[in-house]
Amino acid sequence: MFVQRYSRLAGTTVLRSLTRLQVRPMSVAYSSTSSSQCHLSLAAEASKQVAMKEASQPASHLVASLPDQEGLNVKFGDGSASQMPYVWLRDNCQCSKCYNPVALGRSFLLEDLDVNVHATKVQESEDGVEIEWSDGHSSQFTAEWLYDRAFTTSARAQQRNRYALSREPWGVEHKPAEFDYQTLMEDEKVLLDWLLTMETKGSALVKNTPNRDVAGPDLINNIAFVKQSHYGPHSPVINRENTNNVAFTNVKLGMHNDLAQYEQMAGIIFIQCVMQHQGKGGESVISDGLLAAECLRRDHPEAFQVLTTTDAYFWDKGHANFPWEMESFFKISKRPIITLNNDNEVVCVAMNNGVRHSYLDLPSHKVKKFYAALKLFNDILYDNAIRFKMEAGDMMTLDNIRCLHGREGYEDFSPRHIESSYLDWDEARCRRRRLQEKLELFV
Ligand code: OGA
Ligand code: ZN
Ligand code: ZN
Repeated sequence: MFVQRYSRLAGTTVLRSLTRLQVRPMSVAYSSTSSSQCHLSLAAEASKQVAMKEASQPASHLVASLPDQEGLNVKFGDGSASQMPYVWLRDNCQCSKCYNPVALGRSFLLEDLDVNVHATKVQESEDGVEIEWSDGHSSQFTAEWLYDRAFTTSARAQQRNRYALSREPWGVEHKPAEFDYQTLMEDEKVLLDWLLTMETKGSALVKNTPNRDVAGPDLINNIAFVKQSHYGPHSPVINRENTNNVAFTNVKLGMHNDLAQYEQMAGIIFIQCVMQHQGKGGESVISDGLLAAECLRRDHPEAFQVLTTTDAYFWDKGHANFPWEMESFFKISKRPIITLNNDNEVVCVAMNNGVRHSYLDLPSHKVKKFYAALKLFNDILYDNAIRFKMEAGDMMTLDNIRCLHGREGYEDFSPRHIESSYLDWDEARCRRRRLQEKLELFV
């Protein structure tokens, strides 16, 4: 089988390296009481000297630090400037008493932090700035360290990108990128490409997966480790007798996210086709919940409001079908269908008719509106979905808190065999950052 491997690494990850900044020694030192008068006149003196320096030094080397009442106004060689609040600088003192450089963690305690702390003396040094504090402590910061943590729009955007890459919504035209299983296991560049694809597109197709029920967990263990559920480290999705979940039958599964009954839903789902149903049935459908949620927000703001502010219960109660499953389980989670973060971004979508509870913690007059919004969201998901039928050896990987999947029903006595397993986003992003560092692509 021909496998197209996407080599988008260069396009998506070759990023600018930071301008290295240097601070030149400068004799702007000041002693201060806490009077703002004193801060201001010294600041005026300092800015005059900076202006003189700016004219004579290459822009990339110039850094100035001008104290004001609340912080240092630092100017960097690329022309950017940021106020660095005193309380933040003091909290982040890098001395060995306040910060453990081996553990990379703060030893300084909040109980010792004065939120009104201010500098009594500021002195620019060879590679940064030295500060004496009103609490008697002193700190040194390099320009590079400050630049990386500046409160500018661009530095904050870069920090956000290290945390999580921005997502690219997709619709009916989407063709999931394809990766070869063995190459993913052996080539870290390709693995990084998959990780980047999963963060940006939330979906990919792994081809040539070995015919083993642990092929998913093996790949996950090559990335980090398996996120278990009460169904064990991986689940055979087959038409089971005495099933403990409707997914383990032959019925059609509507568009859903797995494990919505968990407060911490699995981040990435690996859905491996070990054996497909021959003939009609067993087809997959996937949709981008991010795109659908944004359509809902734009076109049906009232329904969007309902789905982002109404909690639903999800639950799962049962007994093991296999020895590796939890002997008896009883989960309940409570969450909105669409979760927003503090920036009003969609950070989690949770739909699953199989495990959505009949309990609704709502006054009865709100119930119909909730259903209307849910159904509308479901329609939008299907309107923008893509459909395909996996073959044995195919494994789709989906961002389970963003993208949704479903499957067509199939005949009762079918040898169809799907295996599902999970990986948490914390571990996937952790591996992405480390690989970016290793391949010198981390910025
Ligand atoms: C599931 C599921 C997909 C399939 O088990 O949750 O979505 O194709 N299975 O059977
Ligand atoms: Zn310190
Ligand atoms: Zn599923």
